[in-house]
Amino acid sequence: MKIVICYFSGTGNTHKIADCFAQAFRERQHDVAVYSMDEFAFAKKLPQELTEQIEQCDLLGMGYPVYAFNAPPVALQFAKILPRLPKNKKTFIFNCSGEPLKLNNISSLKLCGILKRRRFEVTNEYHYCMPYNIIFRHSEEMAVRMWQTAQNLIPLDATEILSGQKHLLEKVRCGGTIAWVMRCEQWGGRLNGRMYSVNKNCVHCGKCVNDCPTHNIRITEKGKFKFGGKCLMCMRCAHLCPKNAIRIGMFNGWKVNGPYAFSAKNEEEKQRYNKMLTKAYDAYFSEAEERIASASSNGNKSNT
Ligand SMILES: Cc1cc2nc3c(=O)[nH]c(=O)nc-3n(C[C@H](O)[C@H](O)[C@H](O)COP(=O)(O)O)c2cc1C
Repeated sequence: MKIVICYFSGTGNTHKIADCFAQAFRERQHDVAVYSMDEFAFAKKLPQELTEQIEQCDLLGMGYPVYAFNAPPVALQFAKILPRLPKNKKTFIFNCSGEPLKLNNISSLKLCGILKRRRFEVTNEYHYCMPYNIIFRHSEEMAVRMWQTAQNLIPLDATEILSGQKHLLEKVRCGGTIAWVMRCEQWGGRLNGRMYSVNKNCVHCGKCVNDCPTHNIRITEKGKFKFGGKCLMCMRCAHLCPKNAIRIGMFNGWKVNGPYAFSAKNEEEKQRYNKMLTKAYDAYFSEAEERIASASSNGNKSNT
C-alpha cells in the first residue's frame, strides 16, 4: 500500500507522531512518504510531484497540533490546495495537544469539511497528548509518559487504520460554533505576532529567522528584528531559541522556552509531575494503558 503522511509541527511534537506512524506502517511492509507542510505554508499550489503522489497513494494521513481547538491555518490551507479527486480516498487525521480535553476533538471539523469537498474521506482520527509549548511547561517526567503512551498507541492505531475499522473522535455539542468562535485566535495570533520582540540575550544567531515556517522574521541591515503579520503562533522561534531571547507579545507570560528532552528523570521533576496529574490526564493515561494492555493480551499487534 502507498501511504503519504503530511504534517505541520510548530515545535516538533507532531513531527514525532508523524514519524512514529510512518515507522509503524513501514514495519507492516507499506511504502510511506512523509512531508512537512512548512514549505507549503500559504502556497497557492502544491508541487506537481507531491500532487501526483497524493493522487496515486492508497491512504493519506494529515497531522497537526491543536491551536485553540482548531487545526492551524497552515493545515487548512494545505487541504485547500489538495487536488480534487474523481473518487473517495481513505484519509486519517492525527493531532496532538497539551491537554486531553474533549473539546480538542472539534479541531478537525473544518479540516474534514475541506477534505470532504476534495473527496478525501476521513475514516480515522486520533489524538495524542503531548507536552505544552505554550501556557505552562510540563515536567520531563510527564513529557516522557506522554510520548511513551503515544508510541504504544500508534502501532495499534496504524493496525486499526489498515484493517479498515473506522475510528472518529467524539465531538462535543455545538462544536462547529465553538471552533468557529475560537478561530479568532488565528487573526489574534497574526496581530500579536507583530508585537514579538527580542531582548538583550539575543546573539543574532538567525535560528528564528531560518526556522520560521512563514518567513515572518527578518533582521534589518541595522541589525533590528522585524516581525511581520504572518505569525502562526506556532512558538517555534520562542520555544527553540537557544538564548530565550524572544518575547511573544501579549502572551509572554505563557512562553515555554527550551525543547523537551523526553528523557530526564529526577526527584524534583517527579514531584512537579505528581502535582500536575489532574483527573483529565489520569483518565487519558488509564484509558490508553487499558487499550495497550488489552491489545497485547489479544495479540492485536499483528501485521495488517
Ligand atoms: C497557539 C497555540 C494554541 C494552542 N491551543 C491548544 C488547545 O486549544 N488545546 C490544547 O490542549 N493544546 C493547545 N496548544 C498546545 C499544543 O497543541 C501542544 O503543545 C502540541 O503538542 C504542540 O505540537 P507541536 O510541537 O507539533 O507544535 C496550543 C499551542 C499553541 C502554540
